[in-house]
Amino acid sequence: MVKAVVLGAAGGIGQPLSLLLKTNPLITELSLYDIVNTPGVAADLSHIATPAKVVGYLPPDDGLKKALTGAELVVIPAGVPRKPGMTRDDLFKINAGIVRDLATGIATTAPKAFVLVISNPVNSTVPIVAEVFKQKGVFDPKKIFGVTTLDVVRASTFVSEVLGDLSLAPKVVVPVVGGHSGVTIVPLLSQSSHPLPSGFAKEELDKLINRIQFGGDEVVKAKDGAGSATLSMAYAGYEFANKIIRAVKGEKGIIAPTFVNLAADKEGGEALKKEIGSDLDYFSAPVELGPEGVVSIKSLGKITDAETALVKAAIPELKTNVEKGVSFVGASK
Ligand code: NAI
Repeated sequence: MVKAVVLGAAGGIGQPLSLLLKTNPLITELSLYDIVNTPGVAADLSHIATPAKVVGYLPPDDGLKKALTGAELVVIPAGVPRKPGMTRDDLFKINAGIVRDLATGIATTAPKAFVLVISNPVNSTVPIVAEVFKQKGVFDPKKIFGVTTLDVVRASTFVSEVLGDLSLAPKVVVPVVGGHSGVTIVPLLSQSSHPLPSGFAKEELDKLINRIQFGGDEVVKAKDGAGSATLSMAYAGYEFANKIIRAVKGEKGIIAPTFVNLAADKEGGEALKKEIGSDLDYFSAPVELGPEGVVSIKSLGKITDAETALVKAAIPELKTNVEKGVSFVGASK
């Protein structure tokens, strides 16, 4: 039995993500919440011949509470997306309040659920969820995740393009660490399961790193005002949600990079802080998942001097983003 809930289910990410969750035979209940259109989306998905019972909820009549009752997995893609020229941080003004209010609902109704935050800026919205949970006395850092999987998916795709063989894309594994915005996105290409071509020039490497860091901009530009990545994000969000579900069902050894509070694994978190030379409370690192959430936070392992420099360059922005999220909840107490 798994009850999954999508908050922001009628949106560009929410709809295809809900479709993918509906195809998962391990999900028995799928609740769709949004401020608009969920009855239609739910009715449509409910005709698909898979086990999940799909119900749509809107704000009236305690819709959020009803959607969240009994939830084990909550995914949040609610909020506004970027337009050309915007950074993820530009979304803070609107999305911070949306995420805070939804987190309050989860902390009250489903405090033990796994919470997967997609809404940007992830570097700030994850601390917002955590602070709300702390205020409500239900904070468990092992169960709150910032979804950075799209950066990992992009890295696999772009590396396979460089290797001239897209059929490799599903097999290419590149850890992407740090955070989820521009320079805070740090792909560890030296650890790629499929090494880059020998003699790959430094300029080419820099171009590839930049493409992974700013891949979202390619989509924002191509959509020309109509939003940011939705379909690839739904795919990535589902991939991460499915890892959580598999871990909950007892599968061992599932590891994925994700943006977490480093208190989720005291020992691993402290070791990582030493490794990156910072007292940051949040970082995206490879995390082992288990039935109760984070089992361990992994070391970044052996990285090149250039990658160490990228990690260092990510820290100031990450710090600012995290503090912004923390103080937003403090200020709105
Ligand atoms: P969208 O505008 O198509 O959909 C957002 C949905 O949220 C809408 O249906 C809207 O009605 C709903 N919503 C707004 N306020 C709400 C509330 N208080 N409660 C429930 N639902 C509410 O936007 P899209 O493209 O789906 O993007 C959603 C978010 O995901 C954005 O913040 C975007 O920046 C972020 N994103 C994150 C990525 C990541 O890698 N983590 C990648 C791409 C986008």
